[in-house]
Amino acid sequence: MTTMNAAISTKGETPILDNGQGVIDPDVYFEVNKAPADLPEFEEKLNAFVDYHKAKNNNVVLITSGGTTVPLENQTVRFIDNFSNGNRGATSAEYFLEAGYAVVFMHRTNSIQPYHRHFIPSQRGFLDYMRPTEEGSVEVRPEYVEKMHQVLLRYEKAKQENRLLLLEFVTLPQYLFKLQSGAKILARLQEKAMYYLAAAVSDFFIPSSKMVEHKIQSRDGGLTLTLDQVPKFLKPLVSNWAAKGLIVSFKLETDTNLLVPKARAALERYGHQVVIGNMLKTRRQTVTFITQHTEKVITLTKEELDTDVEIESKIIPELARIHQNWIKSGSTE
Ligand code: PMT
Repeated sequence: MTTMNAAISTKGETPILDNGQGVIDPDVYFEVNKAPADLPEFEEKLNAFVDYHKAKNNNVVLITSGGTTVPLENQTVRFIDNFSNGNRGATSAEYFLEAGYAVVFMHRTNSIQPYHRHFIPSQRGFLDYMRPTEEGSVEVRPEYVEKMHQVLLRYEKAKQENRLLLLEFVTLPQYLFKLQSGAKILARLQEKAMYYLAAAVSDFFIPSSKMVEHKIQSRDGGLTLTLDQVPKFLKPLVSNWAAKGLIVSFKLETDTNLLVPKARAALERYGHQVVIGNMLKTRRQTVTFITQHTEKVITLTKEELDTDVEIESKIIPELARIHQNWIKSGSTE
């Protein structure tokens, strides 16, 4: 077991956060960091959802979506963030619902959400979809009615059937505590659970016990931060938390040459079932599925891109097929 050796010192008034080279064991992480205050509420909602779908013998997928933040102060003014806006997770959630799954959508607060995503493009605001009527009411503008009707039907169906549970995180510790707890709760479903880890999780952080309490002051000029490495949580997730569920992780790279080797290395290192590799710039049009014995590229054609086909419409049926094999035979092939 590796112990954490992070430290914070100050030189004059400028804090220097110096962590040495500590990489902590995932179990130690949960001992030395504070659980989020809303963890009991998170667990209560998820327990009820899982019990409901276990009784119905439904498949349930836990989707993680969006980026985690890394606070720099205990009373947080500043934090480190990343690019992910949650589009992959939110889009995937809709296709999982279409494929008959119950969906736990564990997402970054204020990131993109299933169904709502169709009406929040940055160039148009919520109010631009509507207009006031002379009768003193409000109506959807005619050009948006058909699409909104279609999306609303699917959204209402998911809600009425209690097949969509929205749960939130913002910071890295919130994400990790909820991932651990959520994975263990879903483990009751055995093979019928799927873990679809699309969130962009920070690889570096400052442990809460080593963080400065108050806002870092700027009066002494530049700031040097040294961050600890976040332990690789896929390891305990695969070996201890998720029991027999199907685990799908994502691998994001910016260098094409690294994508497949690193995705395969992750599969071998953690021993789970599927890694989906994607490149930052082409993630909406090409992904590579990697399982123990297979490698498959899924790409949208030009026609598909021109007609707004979403790559998740191909990813999710493929995963549903793999999951069925997993449930039937304990193998992905
Ligand atoms: O949200 P969008 O803007 O649509 O973008 C979608 C996406 C590009 C973020 C998504 O498709 C994606 O690739 N998500 C995973 C990105 C990522 O964090 O990759 P990684 O190489 O850092 O991590 C690999 C896997 O290990 C991830 O499934 C992650 O959940 C897991 N992990 C990461 C860090 C950590 N400390 N422990 C982990 O278990």
